Amino acid sequence: MKRIGVLTGGGDCPGLNAVIRAVTKSAINLYGWEVIGFEDGFKGLVENTYRVLDLAAVSGIIHRGGTILGTTNRDNPFNYLVEENGQKVFRDMSAQAIKNLENLGIEALVVIGGDGSLHIAYNLFKQGVKVVGVPKTIDNDISGTDVTFGFDTAVATATGALDKLHTTAESHHRVMILEVMGRYAGWIALEAGVAGGADVILIPEIPYHIENVAQTIAKREATGKKFSIIVVAEGAREEGGDLVVQRLVPESHDPIRLGGIGNKLAEDIERLTGRETRVTVLGHLQRGGSPTAFDRILSTRYGVAAVDTIAAGNFGSMVSLRTPFVTTITLQEAIGELKKVPVDHDLVQAAKAVGISFGD
Ligand code: F6P
Repeated sequence: MKRIGVLTGGGDCPGLNAVIRAVTKSAINLYGWEVIGFEDGFKGLVENTYRVLDLAAVSGIIHRGGTILGTTNRDNPFNYLVEENGQKVFRDMSAQAIKNLENLGIEALVVIGGDGSLHIAYNLFKQGVKVVGVPKTIDNDISGTDVTFGFDTAVATATGALDKLHTTAESHHRVMILEVMGRYAGWIALEAGVAGGADVILIPEIPYHIENVAQTIAKREATGKKFSIIVVAEGAREEGGDLVVQRLVPESHDPIRLGGIGNKLAEDIERLTGRETRVTVLGHLQRGGSPTAFDRILSTRYGVAAVDTIAAGNFGSMVSLRTPFVTTITLQEAIGELKKVPVDHDLVQAAKAVGISFGD
């Protein structure tokens, strides 16, 4: 019998369980393979902590957020934190991870992850591991695919938050700022901002001028609209300004954790407009909860495609959506460059056409 492994790496997002389920079910139903799930992402690969996934193990999980396998966005086998003589030091533990795969008789590995995890997957592939990647992240910043799973749910969550902020903003005649995630890409802010009828959307790809934001608020006031809704991506910054960083996580693939731009913006807006301003940081609510129907379907398609890709012997690749088809691209292409919002994207143009300001 052929044995394959699966792990979920990096920050969690809705739809992970639906992928694990699809990988396991299709591997068993279509090919008669055995599936091993590593616990807590690449940590499980290094520490050899795993469990057998059978049909019962993945039953009833398609609608559940999070990952039944656990995950971490810190552990990288190529730069792994270990304790030596009472000291914490980083070591390359990739040989150990590969040995564990060999000892378990695992012939191929499905890595469900975002940018950081897919980089690690590619490095494992270069060391001879037969890897297939599945693009996961609420940020939607992976190249070579129309969309990552988890993104649609995050957009729905942010849109729901905007709907709620709208009613209270209107009642109190306030400026309401919603800070959303997305790292260095503005996809969540852009889509939720358009869907939630925001007045201003600030994204990393279009540095803003605070005077333009203040002017948008003033213009609305002049037409009798005494409230304004602003969506700001955590990676947005003022023209000539810096990213607002919340903390550093040195052991992580990307040590920078963004956050705080919403508060900076609120101070600037109050100073310039005198209008009472409140901030909501949506944070990890965007990563939690049940996946939308779209994400459940995409996750299922990706999971089945990953198993078919293994069967076809097409390793070092990532499954990808090229609407309407699920196809594959090389991992090398997928991780080459982050997928940011093109400034001339039709949704940016459409947003501007309906009167939304980007502060540019
Ligand atoms: O990549 C997913 C993401 O949620 C980003 O949008 C965000 O910047 C980051 O992870 C937050 O990471 P953490 O869970 O370590 O706070």
